[in-house]
Amino acid sequence: MAGFTGKNILVLGGSRGIGAAIVRRFAGDGGAVAFTYAGSKDAAEALATQTGAEAIRTDSADRGALVATVADRGALDILVVNAGALVLGDPLTLDPDAVDRMIDVNVRAPYHAAVEAARRMNGNGRIIVIGSVNGDRMPFAGGAAYALTKSAVQGMVRGLARDFGGRGITVNAIQPGPTDSDMNPADGPMAEQMHSFMAIKRHARTDEIAQLAAFIAGPHGAMITGSLQTIDGGFGA
Ligand SMILES: NC(=O)c1ccc[n+]([C@@H]2O[C@H](COP(=O)([O-])OP(=O)(O)OC[C@H]3O[C@@H](n4cnc5c(N)ncnc54)[C@H](OP(=O)(O)O)[C@@H]3O)[C@@H](O)[C@H]2O)c1
Repeated sequence: MAGFTGKNILVLGGSRGIGAAIVRRFAGDGGAVAFTYAGSKDAAEALATQTGAEAIRTDSADRGALVATVADRGALDILVVNAGALVLGDPLTLDPDAVDRMIDVNVRAPYHAAVEAARRMNGNGRIIVIGSVNGDRMPFAGGAAYALTKSAVQGMVRGLARDFGGRGITVNAIQPGPTDSDMNPADGPMAEQMHSFMAIKRHARTDEIAQLAAFIAGPHGAMITGSLQTIDGGFGA
């Protein structure tokens, strides 16, 4: 397949997990892909070697560096904002700095990156933010701060879709449910509890999320905008 041949694509947070699957998918389909990472240098370099994608070290919590990285890519065809942090626990004892950093990465970064990308995109651009079904449903204790970041993504994509629609740029969120990654391993301590909330009682594979990103970013996605594309095995049903 070469569905993204010639497309200029940036994936923010692409070294591992869902982001790495999205890098693999777009690079495998012919795209010119760059991706950022913050801490996982070895994983990023290995993925770059395997896929031909370019790895760029940029911490999404650093607004100046993030905006510069997006601007450096010029007229993007596709921006995927995948980088995300997960801080769970009793709000009475959670480290407030860790909560604020999560808000920086999960909320501030997608907004500023999307705006900077849209500044340079030609018509037909695609902006995809990886949100979470936890933006809709938080069925266990300890997830308030994470849920607030993913609910914020919902409002953001709706608003930015209105702002950029006149230029043919679409803005959408993908909302995964439990997906097998370092953040949420399929054999992790919370897996059984998560499966109890689901109609299809397993974690998604990262390539299943990447497949949805490819559909939204591809030619059949032109009329999908301002939407929340939930892919969660019924977690939120
Ligand atoms: N897995 C799930 O069950 C699930 C469910 C719903 C939504 N999500 C969302 O899906 C996205 C990806 O999750 P995942 O499960 O694939 O997580 P993961 O396995 O922890 O991978 C996170 C990726 O984001 C990058 N990243 C994190 N902080 C960053 C920062 N400050 N700057 C740049 N890159 C950063 C990491 O890069 P480095 O390692 O290089 O720092 C890594 O490539 C997140 O937005 C998450 O909230 C995940």
